[in-house]
Amino acid sequence: MSTDAIVLLKEDHKEIRRLFTAFQDAEDGPASRRGKIVGQIIEALTVHTYLENEVMYPEIRKLVPDVEDDILESYEEHHVADVLCLELHAMDADDERFVAKTTVLMENVLHHVEEEEQEWFPKVRDALGRNQLQEIGQRMLDLRPKAPTTPTAPKALKKAHDAVVA
Ligand SMILES: [Fe+2]
Ligand SMILES: [Fe+2]
Repeated sequence: MSTDAIVLLKEDHKEIRRLFTAFQDAEDGPASRRGKIVGQIIEALTVHTYLENEVMYPEIRKLVPDVEDDILESYEEHHVADVLCLELHAMDADDERFVAKTTVLMENVLHHVEEEEQEWFPKVRDALGRNQLQEIGQRMLDLRPKAPTTPTAPKALKKAHDAVVA
């Protein structure tokens, strides 16, 4: 299995997109089904964002100054997704705003993931060697079991908060 940081993050993105499709497929089904899928979306995003905030973003910011602006924008996008995840986490699946809020979350995340994959991950791949990307990926794999899985966990919010407020 590859430990390349970009490969690992893209695998997460693929799973997140799969969950988004599952949510759309559940549009006409019971609210409980949508609630369950949104729970999975929130967990996947919480883990993924944590690994990017803790390892990938600070490391890339140091090593590839050219993508500084992309990373600053990405922190802001993470922050927006964090807020929506927190609100959805506290909301009943049969709330009249549940589907709308999930839709806005998905639109924001898809936009963000596309910018990562199309705009700045390729610049990172060009700037760094394979070994560096594998080292960063290994650090994310090591940290993954300790990542928060719910948006109310204090460490889920800390890095994005620091990046935005500090
Ligand atoms: Fe991200
Ligand atoms: Fe990502």
